[in-house]
Amino acid sequence: MKKFLIACFLFVVTVDVYATPEEDRLALREFFTQRFPDMDLNEMINGLYAFDEGAREQWLEMEDFPPYEIAIEEGEEAFNEPFANSKSYADCFENGGIGIKQNYPRFDKDSGEIITLELAINQCRTDNGEEPLPWLTGELAAISAYMAFTSRGNKMSVVIPDDPRALSAYESGKEYYYTRRGQLEFACENCHMQSAGFQLRADRLSGMLGQATHWPVYRSKWGEIGTLHKRFRECNSQVRAKPYDPQSRVYRELEYFLSFMSNDMEMNGPASRR
Ligand code: HEC
Repeated sequence: MKKFLIACFLFVVTVDVYATPEEDRLALREFFTQRFPDMDLNEMINGLYAFDEGAREQWLEMEDFPPYEIAIEEGEEAFNEPFANSKSYADCFENGGIGIKQNYPRFDKDSGEIITLELAINQCRTDNGEEPLPWLTGELAAISAYMAFTSRGNKMSVVIPDDPRALSAYESGKEYYYTRRGQLEFACENCHMQSAGFQLRADRLSGMLGQATHWPVYRSKWGEIGTLHKRFRECNSQVRAKPYDPQSRVYRELEYFLSFMSNDMEMNGPASRR
């Protein structure tokens, strides 16, 4: 922990509150280019494995028999199962829901809300008279995994339309990322920018860039596939801050910001992590 804390003070980041989202994104890429001049930034979609050669080898072995494969199959089956009213998920999404994950989260003009893919899946269910599914794991995560799988290779393309509500959602997400919280008083950036690539206890820390391209994730520690908001909750708990509810506005706006930062990077979900 001591080594880790020292690392936090080595890299001072200045947040430009007046920058446009696109300027933020380019500044973030510049930050990581300077931190890791010899690394191909595109590797950061693989999280901590971009930094840790030993862990990367074990991970590549794990990927030979991907632990999320069952979730993709179950998700595909659930996705194609018609609702009681004989409509299906495909009716709720553009392009029948295939290859569209890179556009999420998206801003909804009518409600002014940020819509994550998981929220859209459950909205599709309730619009068709079905019960919503639990948010963090299980069938919802499996459907999301299948939809992510059909989007592999596409480039993340989250849009912030010219609407003050969309920009304000982005700004809230950004502010959340840079605000210290919890008994340990850590912001997301303290771990995933200043300390990216460093060891924290048993873990090597991933960087912010590329953190949104590969969800949901099968995590060995969870023993199952889980959504991004499950990870947000875990990172909140790690600094002894109270986690928010999955799909709360705070987490949706955080996801909006985080995903925009990964724009133009390859979609590679679902993924496995130790
Ligand atoms: C005390 C350090 C710490 C803080 C603060 C922290 N995290 Fe994490 N985070 C971790 C660790 C450890 C992991 C697991 C190793 C890894 O993948 O980086 C992780 C993993 C993640 C991952 C998964 C990365 C991947 O490739 O699968 C995401 C996304 C993430 N954190 C987002 C956040 C967000 C958003 C915040 C702020 C709410 C945050 N983290 C705050 C320590 C932290």
